[in-house]
Amino acid sequence: MILVTGGAGYIGSHAVLELLLAGEEVLVLDNLCHSSRIAIDRVEQLAGRPLQFVKGDVRNRSLLAALFASYPIRAVMHFAGLKAVGESVREPLRYYETNVSGSIALCQAMAEAGVFRLVFSSSATVYGESPMMPITEDRPTGVPTNPYGQSKLMAESVLKGLAESDPRWSIGLLRYFNPIGAHESGLIGEDPNGVPNNLLPYMLQVAVGRRRQLNVYGADYPTPDGTGIRDYIHVVDLVKGHLKALERLEAVRGVSVWNLGTGKGHSVREMITAFEEVTGRPLPHVIKPRRAGDIAQCWSDPGKAWQELGWRAERDLISMLADAWRWQSNNPRGYAEPTPEKKTPTALAS
Ligand code: NAD
Ligand code: UFG
Repeated sequence: MILVTGGAGYIGSHAVLELLLAGEEVLVLDNLCHSSRIAIDRVEQLAGRPLQFVKGDVRNRSLLAALFASYPIRAVMHFAGLKAVGESVREPLRYYETNVSGSIALCQAMAEAGVFRLVFSSSATVYGESPMMPITEDRPTGVPTNPYGQSKLMAESVLKGLAESDPRWSIGLLRYFNPIGAHESGLIGEDPNGVPNNLLPYMLQVAVGRRRQLNVYGADYPTPDGTGIRDYIHVVDLVKGHLKALERLEAVRGVSVWNLGTGKGHSVREMITAFEEVTGRPLPHVIKPRRAGDIAQCWSDPGKAWQELGWRAERDLISMLADAWRWQSNNPRGYAEPTPEKKTPTALAS
């Protein structure tokens, strides 16, 4: 059985589905602070079989001990965490407590239970502002400009130290580039709380009428069209990388770092053009000043994952956007239960 922390969230729910489809038994631990039980129901529906779900906190040591004592867990995928950059600046301790202390509590419970295989959700944010593209895993990590990025870097270093201290550990640090898209069924997808921080969720909410227009943060970057460039990767490709990493960790000990990206960068303007093509409607947008802390460009060299895991991303940008659009248009308010508000015109926020 695989324990998936944060398995009701955006990436976790897609990973749980992929694990179930691969025939694994899955136990999800999630406190639902940023997700819905409905995501779990839909994953079970898509997989055609049930999973075990426990509502609880990854920082709860006695709960973790009880789970490891009750279920035959052989490995862990650890998605549970907080990820909003701006919020992390306002509430740093909550971010360090969840992302760093939560990871420590989990590893302590794993070690006590004799479980030493862990796949960890890290982020390309740990590279900071890189002078050269694409980014390979041996590039020195940078200095993240916010507590969220710091918490990922700290968690990475805790895990590295742990693996150095005890040769039984097999840990995969997966550095995600920009996960977008949704399962092709349109039943599960990304459902951010409040105002979305990330580009595609914001574009989707504009397209369904929940927000007035997209703010393009900066058109004066040193990039071909002046807007920021990122390596967008389909969430289904991303989670397939996790299964490959899990398999590989059966054979290797210590810490392995893999970039999960496509190796291609797209600008915000390119994203808008492709999105308009997919939805068949114009996307209202306005150019705004740069967002604090943003970098001009960032894309991966995914060659190491291809060589060592036999994994690479297969879905192109149009399929990422089409799947995301199917999810959002089928579920304009995400997993929220339909409310009477839906029947009356909603106030538009920008
Ligand atoms: P998400 O918010 O959709 O999922 C996180 C899940 O963890 C949620 O279901 C939430 O309820 C749960 N959770 C949070 N705190 C918890 C706690 N203390 N105990 C138990 N459950 C808790 O986010 P996501 O996009 O699916 O991200 C998953 C992981 O990937 C996170 O660790 C995130 O930092 C990392 N990551 C995400 C991105 C991205 O762009 N989405 C990029 C790089 C890394
Ligand atoms: N952008 C806009 N308008 C928006 C939102 C974003 O123009 O409303 C632009 C940004 O300036 C950037 C690009 O779109 O150029 C992508 O921005 P995102 O916020 O979607 O993604 P980031 O690359 O800034 O950050 C994301 C996650 C981080 C993570 C990083 C690398 O938010 O947590 O990817 O994995 F660390």
